Amino acid sequence: MSEKTTPIVDYSDLEFKQGSGVHIWDEVIYPWFVHAETLDAMSDFQVRHDDVYVISYPKSGTTWTQEIVSLINSNGEPDSVKDKHVEERVPHLEMSTAIPGTILYPRITAMPDDKPRLIKTHLPYQHMPKDFLVKKPKIVYIARNYKDVSVSGYSFLRMYKAYDDVGSWNDFCQGVLLKELTPYGPWTAHVLGWWQHRRDKNVLFLKYEDLKKDLRGGVIQIADFLGKPLSDEAIDKTVEHCSFKTMSRNPMTNFTGLDAFDHKVSSFMRKGGTGDWKNWYTVAQNEAMSKLIEERIQGSGLEFDYEPAI
Ligand code: A3P
Repeated sequence: MSEKTTPIVDYSDLEFKQGSGVHIWDEVIYPWFVHAETLDAMSDFQVRHDDVYVISYPKSGTTWTQEIVSLINSNGEPDSVKDKHVEERVPHLEMSTAIPGTILYPRITAMPDDKPRLIKTHLPYQHMPKDFLVKKPKIVYIARNYKDVSVSGYSFLRMYKAYDDVGSWNDFCQGVLLKELTPYGPWTAHVLGWWQHRRDKNVLFLKYEDLKKDLRGGVIQIADFLGKPLSDEAIDKTVEHCSFKTMSRNPMTNFTGLDAFDHKVSSFMRKGGTGDWKNWYTVAQNEAMSKLIEERIQGSGLEFDYEPAI
């Protein structure tokens, strides 16, 4: 799906750091764990008609949406998902192994074809497997306001042992966020790329802030979209199982078992809300970020809530 776009960000200063940094593939910055070979291989990846993709810009509530989709797929029965990590139930399409030149997606191609595959990806629209345009699988896209995404992302990079020291918030905000040098490319490009397809029949475009305000409504909406309407009892169980409180205590969703993270630095399930950015952004940083976001998304009709939900 290589629709060439003009890069809006100057990547010329970006250093490629093998093993712990980023690289550029088709004008988009990718983290080291997404190898160029994996991205090349997307042109041959076979999509299935009944696949379900959970898609997002990182730190937008992907794990939350994976868990909701997974539980709906199991008819809202928490027992059926309690022994398998969410990343196994809804594997990450472009995650590559640490060995250069190898790709993990064969474990996805090997998934049985008698039930829908649930797949997570952070790929921007233009880098999705070519076959995706032909097969038109169901897509649940989750978007979140960038100020909270960026704070969540900064905290995540701090705890991710594979990354070099990310430095202070001030340096990160000035040197990475406001220069739009984040992995998976600028947030605005990613979200707008999918927003333009929000009316496609196979796409459900959701916002984190709406889910936060009305999780039950979101669960019903996703279940209906997936063609798996649930009983009231199953909806109640799904809502309870996917609440922040329950997910942050569940080892199958809270990533506490993952050695790649230093859990003393931060947690994966950190605050789980809207508005924490106010504790991080200075007045000047907020003004600069608001201006940047407005410049990029104006006229698109895309809007976000930034205020803490009541
Ligand atoms: P915070 O760091 O702001 O707490 P992703 O899964 O895309 O990496 O996103 C992680 C963010 O989603 C984290 O945000 C995490 O706490 C939040 N999250 C995960 N599960 C959630 C839930 N059940 N309810 C609300 N937020 C959730």
